[in-house]
Amino acid sequence: MKIEAALIGYGRMGQMHAEAMRKSDQWNVVYICDKDPEARKRAREQWPASTQVTDNEDEIFNDPQVQVVGLYALADSRKEQIEKAVRHGKHFIAEKPVADTLEREWQTVELAEQSHCFSTVNLYLRNSWYHQAMKQFIDEGEIGELAILRICHMTPGLAPGEGHEYEGPAFHDCGMHYVDIARWYAGSEYHTWHAQALRMWSYKDPWWLQCHGTFENGVVFDITQGFVYGQLSKDQTHNSYTDIIGTKGIVRMTHDFKTAVVELHGVNRTVRLEHPFGGKNIDRLCQLMATSVEKGERDPHLPGLRDSAIASQYAWKFLEDAAQHALPCIGNLDTLEAIRERRKHMKNGYGLLRPAT
Ligand SMILES: NC(=O)c1ccc[n+]([C@@H]2O[C@H](COP(=O)([O-])OP(=O)(O)OC[C@H]3O[C@@H](n4cnc5c(N)ncnc54)[C@H](O)[C@@H]3O)[C@@H](O)[C@H]2O)c1
Repeated sequence: MKIEAALIGYGRMGQMHAEAMRKSDQWNVVYICDKDPEARKRAREQWPASTQVTDNEDEIFNDPQVQVVGLYALADSRKEQIEKAVRHGKHFIAEKPVADTLEREWQTVELAEQSHCFSTVNLYLRNSWYHQAMKQFIDEGEIGELAILRICHMTPGLAPGEGHEYEGPAFHDCGMHYVDIARWYAGSEYHTWHAQALRMWSYKDPWWLQCHGTFENGVVFDITQGFVYGQLSKDQTHNSYTDIIGTKGIVRMTHDFKTAVVELHGVNRTVRLEHPFGGKNIDRLCQLMATSVEKGERDPHLPGLRDSAIASQYAWKFLEDAAQHALPCIGNLDTLEAIRERRKHMKNGYGLLRPAT
């Protein structure tokens, strides 16, 4: 028996989740809901008549057939949808962040943790083969004691004002993934930090931020994130890596969004792994959730709402810390306008919200 799923929000992420479910034999997508007529038109064209397309989320919550809801709209509607999911006894997969303010995020954590429904958040890096492989190597003791985490993700991605208006500046919207994965590796809570940011193109919010600091267990970290990386270069590129140093060895990875390369330099083994990048690993998230529902037992590998709220909280803290220091502006809004204009016409680009179908 397939699991009956209903998806709310059929934008970039909603479509990715829907496709992952379509390819799996564990799921049956029975509803797609979006408030935008264009998105509904797209859903109608892409799905058979047995999938109902609606603008009314209450149809979904009131339908006892629906077992799992996917919450892929923007952060401003998420808390209300989580409340409805819990009230109607639906399991749910949520996009991050789980609400549009920290206070509301923590309220959703409380709701989820008190409920019998299974819930998870798409903290997609945790489900990636490359982070799993590096973590396992570290856990085997191959690099000695974990000491230093260095994470960088800079792309010519989502520009300010293009969308995601409720998810915060780039370091919150995207950076919270890296804040989360550093904490996952450290196995400890953030302890001290110092952040430096820059208001690129003189936009009101910083679009690049670097933070370094410590975890309670003494592991140190630096995280760099920015959607500022050559937005107007003729041929765009990016720089994304994880570099982890232990007392005896190192592990590191990089990727070009198609292939990821992991290099493991341990005391006993040197290993080089090269596999398809795997995108947002939504197939894995969906599979973990489906198996949990089938077995009636929540898979502990599913990231929880608490993990998402903690990552969101520290991403905000690092932005606040950066605002206490010199926060220079470089460039001007005309350049930003040129970037938005370019991205509007791109068919294939970093983090486009609605790639041409
Ligand atoms: N986990 C990740 O790696 C990752 C990556 C990108 C985005 N996201 C998150 O996913 C969410 C969606 O992002 P996106 O890039 O798909 O944005 P998007 O703008 O492409 O899609 C959002 C869709 O939701 C619809 N929508 C908005 N409010 C709605 C409501 N109340 N009811 C029904 N539909 C509604 C919009 O019409 C739109 O079609 C964001 O919260 C974002 O933070 C997560």
